[in-house]
Amino acid sequence: MDRSIPSSRSGVREAMETLQIEDTRELLIRCFGLSLSDQYWICPENSGLTWEKINFFDNDFSDDIGDVLFGAGRKADPLDFSSPDNTSDGNLKKRWKIINEKRCLVKGGSNPYRQQPLNEVIASEIMKRLEIPHVPYRVIWNKGAPYSVCEDFVSGSSELVPAWRIIQTQKQPNNKSLYQHFIDCAETLGIPGVRAFLDRMIVLDYIIANEDRHLNNFGAVRNAETLEWIGMAPVYDSGSSLGYDKSIPMMRDDSEVVCKPFKKHHEEQLKLVSSFDWIDFSALSDVRKMITDILSDEKAKDYLEERRIHAIAELTERRIRNLEMLAGVKNRKQVISTDDEVEKDIAATY
Ligand SMILES: Nc1ncnc2c1ncn2[C@@H]1O[C@H](COP(=O)(O)OP(=O)(O)OP(=O)(O)O)[C@@H](O)[C@H]1O
Ligand SMILES: [Mg+2]
Repeated sequence: MDRSIPSSRSGVREAMETLQIEDTRELLIRCFGLSLSDQYWICPENSGLTWEKINFFDNDFSDDIGDVLFGAGRKADPLDFSSPDNTSDGNLKKRWKIINEKRCLVKGGSNPYRQQPLNEVIASEIMKRLEIPHVPYRVIWNKGAPYSVCEDFVSGSSELVPAWRIIQTQKQPNNKSLYQHFIDCAETLGIPGVRAFLDRMIVLDYIIANEDRHLNNFGAVRNAETLEWIGMAPVYDSGSSLGYDKSIPMMRDDSEVVCKPFKKHHEEQLKLVSSFDWIDFSALSDVRKMITDILSDEKAKDYLEERRIHAIAELTERRIRNLEMLAGVKNRKQVISTDDEVEKDIAATY
């Protein structure tokens, strides 16, 4: 059931009406549960179907469901339901597209600012500068609205295992923090590089004031045949950040900014970072200009006013300076406690 499109997905009710379908779970069976994030599928008995014949990594898929999810009306012809869009997760409007032979995820933003697609590009640029393994995003424009595009980072032989599955491999004792529990689960499984990954993810999320790093927005990758762990997945889905849904005064008010997945406040979550030694602050010297340039796209001017862009760039710069001060503290110690824990891990809705 977790493989179906969440009922909280933006625009899903209208899409289900167009498709004359009651429940997004009905779509699952129509595409044999296939996705582009892992290798699981439903093989009806005696169907003669094989993975080679129907998987979406090697075989083309239909645009029909993606078109409907993006607001197209019902076509006269019968619809072709073979699409990884039937199993895509997340609340923002999205679809998979084959662009230049590559499987790409195309994802929209939410009203009124539609910042998420542009934020994905800004986050990519910051991670490039800090050499954090990440999924690179770019922006395309369609009918005046921005969409982010990223390539599939899962291949025909690997699978993404989200963090929320990893934390279920052991029982979490009451007195253990979620951070420690995640590390213990991941290390017992044998996933390499977990602590260094979390350091980088937490630092990125502080810099961009990410508000939606729930346990489905990071994870690990393993070989789908041998089940050998390859490592933590490159950082993806960083768009719900940089005050994406906030007015300027709200952006400036730290108490309005949500933090996930470990602590409710970014300042508290930063205490979990084991080392800042890897951060090259000089590589971030142009971040203010980079943000201003990306958000000042002529095509974005209906959504983003100059004052807003200025505030976003200024506040990001300020957080980088805070981080630099923290990194400079002698004998700073990582603090792992159960204070300020996130109580419910729920994705933002738009
Ligand atoms: N590049 C990718 N390659 C493979 N799988 C991906 C990729 N990007 C995202 N996914 C998968 O698709 C899911 C939805 O994508 P994403 O998290 O970007 O959407 P979202 O709508 O922003 O999510 P949320 O509800 O967290 O806001 C992810 O949780 C992940 O499982
Ligand atoms: Mg997500």
